[in-house]
Amino acid sequence: MNEFRSSAAGDYDYLIKLLVLGDSGVGKTSFLVRYVDDRFCDRFLSTVGIDFKEKRITKNRKRLRLQLWDTAGQERFRSLATAFFRNAMGFILVYDITNRQSFVNIRDWLEQLRTHSYSYEPLAILVGNKTDLHLERSIEKSDGERLATKCGMNYIETSAKSGENVREAVDILLDLVWDKMMKTIPAVGDPLLHSLVAVEDDGRTSRQTELESGNGKRCCYS
Ligand code: GTP
Repeated sequence: MNEFRSSAAGDYDYLIKLLVLGDSGVGKTSFLVRYVDDRFCDRFLSTVGIDFKEKRITKNRKRLRLQLWDTAGQERFRSLATAFFRNAMGFILVYDITNRQSFVNIRDWLEQLRTHSYSYEPLAILVGNKTDLHLERSIEKSDGERLATKCGMNYIETSAKSGENVREAVDILLDLVWDKMMKTIPAVGDPLLHSLVAVEDDGRTSRQTELESGNGKRCCYS
C-alpha cells in the first residue's frame, strides 16, 4: 500500500487543501458556493474568521477529497486567516474586476501569502471575479494577465453569479497541485518534501502531505 495515500477508511485517495483569499466582497464565498453547490446568492454575508467546504472529485482515476478554505477578507480577521496559509497546498487569489482597490491589494495578499505559506513561491492562481458586471469593469483583462505573469501565476476571469469559468479556475490550480504532488510524494528524501503529517479526520487517521519548495526569493514587483 502507498503510505502517502490519505484515507485509512478507503473512501478517498488524497486529501487536498486549497485556500481562497482576497479583499472583503470580491466574491470568495460565492465562488466556493458556486463550485461546490452550483448556486449563487445575491446577499452579502461577510465571512467571520474562516470557513471551509468540501467536494469529492476524481482525477486521473484517483479519488480526491478537496477541502476548500474560505478566509474572511476583512482586515480584523487577517491574522486568523494567515494562520491557515501554512497548511494549504494551493491558493486562489481573488479580486473584483469592478473594484480597483481589490486589484491593487492583490500585491499585499501575495506578500502575506509568501510570508505565511509553505513557500515564497506557492502554487497560486489569480482570479478576476464578477465578469457578469462587465459594464462596470474598472480593471482590464490585460492588467490582470500582466500582474499574474509578473508574479508567476495563471490568470482567469470568472463569474460566481453565472458560473463562468469557476470550475475551470479550480481545475487549473488542481493540475498544478497534482503535478507537484506526483513529483514530490515518491521522493521521500527529496528536500521538496517538507514533512508528512498524520492528521485526525473525523476520528480516522489520515496522512496529509505538506509540501515545501526551495526558498529562492523572487520579487515580481516592478
Ligand atoms: P468576505 O466574506 O467579506 O471576505 O467577502 P467575500 O469575498 O466572500 O464575498 P461574497 O462571496 O460574500 O460576495 C460579496 C457580494 O458580491 C455578495 O453580494 C455576492 O452576491 C456578490 N458577488 C459575488 N460574486 C459575484 C459575481 O460573480 N457577480 C456578481 N454580480 N456579484 C457577485
